[in-house]
Amino acid sequence: MTRKVIPIGEPEGKLGVLVCGLGAVATTFIGGVEAIRRGYAQPIGSLTQMGTIRLGKRTEKRVPKIKDFVPLADLSDLVFAAWDPIPDNAYEAARKAGVLEPSLLDEIKDFLEPIEPMAAVFEQRFVKRLKGKNVKKGKTKMDLAEQVMEDIERFRRASGAARLVMVWCGSTESFLEESPVHQSLAAFEKGLKSNSPDIAPSMIYAYAAIKSGAPFANGAPNLTADIPALVDLAVQDQIPVCGKDFKTGQTLMKTILAPGLKARLIGLRGWFSTNILGNRDGEVLDDPGSFKTKEESKLSVLEYILQPELYPELYKDFYHKVRINYYPPRGDNKEGWDNLDIFGWLGYPMQIKIDFLCRDSILAAPLALDLALFLDLAQRTPQMARRGIQEWLSFYFKSPMHAPGLYPEHDLFIQLMKLKNTLRYLRGEELITHLGLEYYD
Ligand SMILES: NC(=O)c1ccc[n+]([C@@H]2O[C@H](COP(=O)([O-])OP(=O)(O)OC[C@H]3O[C@@H](n4cnc5c(N)ncnc54)[C@H](O)[C@@H]3O)[C@@H](O)[C@H]2O)c1
Repeated sequence: MTRKVIPIGEPEGKLGVLVCGLGAVATTFIGGVEAIRRGYAQPIGSLTQMGTIRLGKRTEKRVPKIKDFVPLADLSDLVFAAWDPIPDNAYEAARKAGVLEPSLLDEIKDFLEPIEPMAAVFEQRFVKRLKGKNVKKGKTKMDLAEQVMEDIERFRRASGAARLVMVWCGSTESFLEESPVHQSLAAFEKGLKSNSPDIAPSMIYAYAAIKSGAPFANGAPNLTADIPALVDLAVQDQIPVCGKDFKTGQTLMKTILAPGLKARLIGLRGWFSTNILGNRDGEVLDDPGSFKTKEESKLSVLEYILQPELYPELYKDFYHKVRINYYPPRGDNKEGWDNLDIFGWLGYPMQIKIDFLCRDSILAAPLALDLALFLDLAQRTPQMARRGIQEWLSFYFKSPMHAPGLYPEHDLFIQLMKLKNTLRYLRGEELITHLGLEYYD
């Protein structure tokens, strides 16, 4: 059976990548792209750069690289701009973040230094531990949104970018629940004009991005674009959006391990996760408001994967705790411990211990790159763009955005299959079900 090839626009010209927040993740992403372009390093961890995709039957041996299978922007076409309330340029910010080696940063200083952060939309109420000087002023939140749109237009003209995407790499904002102002575009725009306290800075960027025709990805757990008002706007303007919260570190490990335990019907009594980290993200998360936003994002994962309602004997009432402690000596090199109390045949108890010495931003940077490239692909594909939420990018997130009424898919392997099947679908290739009976006919 031949399938329909879905029309996709070619990635002609430059792709402007607008980054909200110029901290550890953003500078590791931007500096990393430049280091790769100069041939200093490999894009390890990036599916768009290194991943392959099997096509057709196993006997056909067709396994192209993803970047050769779908038309993605080339790394050489990426140009960057950022906002941050801290006025450090990308070189200074990267030095302070302490992720990439100073010797590497010095090699690419000429590229990083001119990336000066534009003045941020910032309200300290949402990120208590930060004090920013490089901040926009405006009478209303609508004024601020318009200033962001002007920044975007200025960057579009100055850089000559043919297309844009925006990725939130800013701090985790204080916990915010959906409220009436988020329920419709009309209410949201009214709220922008009347300075509703329920509109967070990240929402203002997301609104400005969608209005400017730039797809939006949210790397933090803030609500941001995951509200009916902005999802409606995205559908209306046919702009792809996705989020929330890059799936790295401990949660990545959880979504690798938990599907394995469930697959073997191993029970779980408790999963205790604790982290120490010493970067600015850790400092921000030391504030209870920001931590609550993160905690909600991290906790939901296991419930969805293990489905206690379907497997009460195995997963009912398991105890799940996540702690994050700010511990400056570690910098960006986080340590995450997990203790799992599990049980097997006849209920006999066992334990698993994980000690993950990870580098948070090294894990997050390739995700930011993939999201920028895949969102740009979705924007050039009217069949995808008109749907707004890009659930096929759940692979990258701890709290994937999804259609109302659905539960999110958290299992990393199902997420990867969904992503690759979406690419096969776009190119008119057979979807892979792994049935495989035909090999025995
Ligand atoms: N590194 C990871 O593995 C990982 C994983 C998941 C999520 N995240 C999230 O990604 C975000 C970035 O992490 P990071 O380690 O780079 O943190 P960071 O503190 O180094 O950088 C965040 C930057 O955002 C800036 N910022 C804060 N509010 C802003 C605003 N309103 N507008 C523009 N900039 C603003 C801060 O000044 C800071 O420079 C955090 O929210 C973090 O929770 C990171």
